Amino acid sequence: MPLIQSIDDLRKIARRRIPRAIFDYADGGSYQERTLRANAADLDALSFRQRVMVDVSSTSLATTVLGTKISMPLAIAPTGLAGLFHADGEILGAQAAAAFGIPFCLSTMSICSIEDVRAATNRPFWFQQYLMRDRGFNQALIERAIAAQCSALMLTLDLPLLGERWRDARNGLCIPPRLSLRNAWDVVTKPAWAMKVLFGKRRTFGNLVGHIKGASGVLNLAEWTHSQFDASATWRDVEWVRSRWPGRLILKGVLDADDARFALAAGADAVVVSNHGGRQLDGAPSTIEVLPEVVAAIDGRCEVLFDGGIRSGQDIAKALALGARAGLIGKSFLFALAAGGEAGVTRALDILRNELRVTLALTGTPNAAAAGPHMLRVRS
Ligand code: GLV
Repeated sequence: MPLIQSIDDLRKIARRRIPRAIFDYADGGSYQERTLRANAADLDALSFRQRVMVDVSSTSLATTVLGTKISMPLAIAPTGLAGLFHADGEILGAQAAAAFGIPFCLSTMSICSIEDVRAATNRPFWFQQYLMRDRGFNQALIERAIAAQCSALMLTLDLPLLGERWRDARNGLCIPPRLSLRNAWDVVTKPAWAMKVLFGKRRTFGNLVGHIKGASGVLNLAEWTHSQFDASATWRDVEWVRSRWPGRLILKGVLDADDARFALAAGADAVVVSNHGGRQLDGAPSTIEVLPEVVAAIDGRCEVLFDGGIRSGQDIAKALALGARAGLIGKSFLFALAAGGEAGVTRALDILRNELRVTLALTGTPNAAAAGPHMLRVRS
């Protein structure tokens, strides 16, 4: 691999290795991508307080999430289509996360199925689902997650319908990917991807095909979600999931203090402050902007996780400083996976860990648990 110093380096490699439609699915957001940009820009706008003469000789990043020890305050977010970024992408991601000692969350919209990932790993992973029109399918997914011994269920709240992603429409993204006149040159110039993914074993939604009607064939994501996702779901349906899932429940997509309180009332063990990586409501605030108000509303009654815009260990440090227990990476994970498979993901985790360690030390913070607002300068 060429010199890789940052997540941005991995992103550049990913862009060269995989077709545009797949890269853009990860890289893009909805409409004009304002919220996507705000996630990164608002993190960038925060400055650290440099503190000196504090003993930081044994900085520890270890912490716990939902009662489980993890090696650093980070988890891999559920992302659709990871197995199209690299063959067996979800399995490789789960393996890299397990070796690193952090949680991996498998998406319902994954390419490798929950059973595939279970068979290939020996560390419990988290499983994500949406509320589907066919509630029997939700029930079946819950049962499959129990059978796979998943350690937490993450319910995504912010996708009653799919945000309009202009890049996907322009690129003609469809599942499974196919060779067409439009993408022929793009695919021909990525022969390794074509061999392993386009003509590979797993190319479509592993959790859905054979389990739910209409999931085979070439799918346009927007049409598929429109036909299957339950746009009428309310907090009562979240309670329904709560009553059926015996383990830890994480509610993802909380971006408002009132919703944080509803999530608590519905029985959340953790919430993820998330705007779906800027892929849903364009014009919504960045996640780092609303993190403090969600933390205040939750007031220690459950854990608060954070995603949206994490491209460095410094970004994780900022989220910790504002009260998150851990961050999640979606896009950064997919870029790393496309760039180098499991080794790419391990490299990304290494980069994030080192950046976080150095940043904690130079803000005079001896360990992740001691992170807090004292690490940031207050803007006048
Ligand atoms: C699925 O959750 C997506 O954002 O495409």
